[in-house]
Amino acid sequence: MTDTGIAAPDTSSAERILATLLHERISCRAFLPHQVPRQVIARILELAQQTPSWCNTQPWQVTITEGEGTERFRTGLAEYVRSHPQESDFDFPREYQGEHKLRRRECAMQLYSSVGIAPGDRAASAEQTMKNFDLFGAPHVAIVTTHEALGTYGAVDCGLYVDSFLLAAQSLGVATIPQAALAGSSRYIHDFFSLSEERKVVCAISFGYADTENPVNRFRTSRESVDNVVEWVSQ
Ligand SMILES: Cc1cc2nc3c(=O)[nH]c(=O)nc-3n(C[C@H](O)[C@H](O)[C@H](O)COP(=O)(O)O)c2cc1C
Repeated sequence: MTDTGIAAPDTSSAERILATLLHERISCRAFLPHQVPRQVIARILELAQQTPSWCNTQPWQVTITEGEGTERFRTGLAEYVRSHPQESDFDFPREYQGEHKLRRRECAMQLYSSVGIAPGDRAASAEQTMKNFDLFGAPHVAIVTTHEALGTYGAVDCGLYVDSFLLAAQSLGVATIPQAALAGSSRYIHDFFSLSEERKVVCAISFGYADTENPVNRFRTSRESVDNVVEWVSQ
């Protein structure tokens, strides 16, 4: 019991399962080529559909590729990126300052060192970045869009949806990586999938089965301690 008389949370099985999913999910950057069976993808989508949204608008629409669809998409994307400047439906970060800059640098260093890229080797890091547009070899990509009329909160709802999708996939042994990098080719995505102009690309999620032997999937990113992000106000 706590001093409020409310039973203290125990390590119930639901909490343990959630903790396991949250701690074991990572962004996968090397996939095996095998397709994920349709019924497994359908289950991920069914679970993710439980995501809450403002006024229950459920603004997400999801376009998913498989087989030849993925191959055509990635081939065209890599070509597009080489000849077009970045153009996204939502503003990309203007600047990384202070702790944001430090955290960003730390995870970039972890990524580069996992694949043997020396600090400052710009050519090699650019090549690693280009792997985004090959979907890191994933057999599927999901493009998540919102409706322009819902503004920022439509994108927030889609962000929640993305996390539900990641955790649902994790619960089924499917590896994922959310990718804002692809949102920088919004024109290509609109044209490739014939998306109406009202749909705004929030991000992509590449998914499939993890290549667990690849060192790029072995590093683990850190998290700030709760004390540094939460302020309690008691009186
Ligand atoms: C909205 C969003 C967009 C992201 N975009 C990219 C991306 O374009 N490329 C990439 O390699 N990782 C991307 N990531 C993955 C993050 O780098 C990763 O979540 C973060 O470093 C924490 O690591 P973890 O997912 O392994 O826990 C994105 C993550 C989120 C939530």
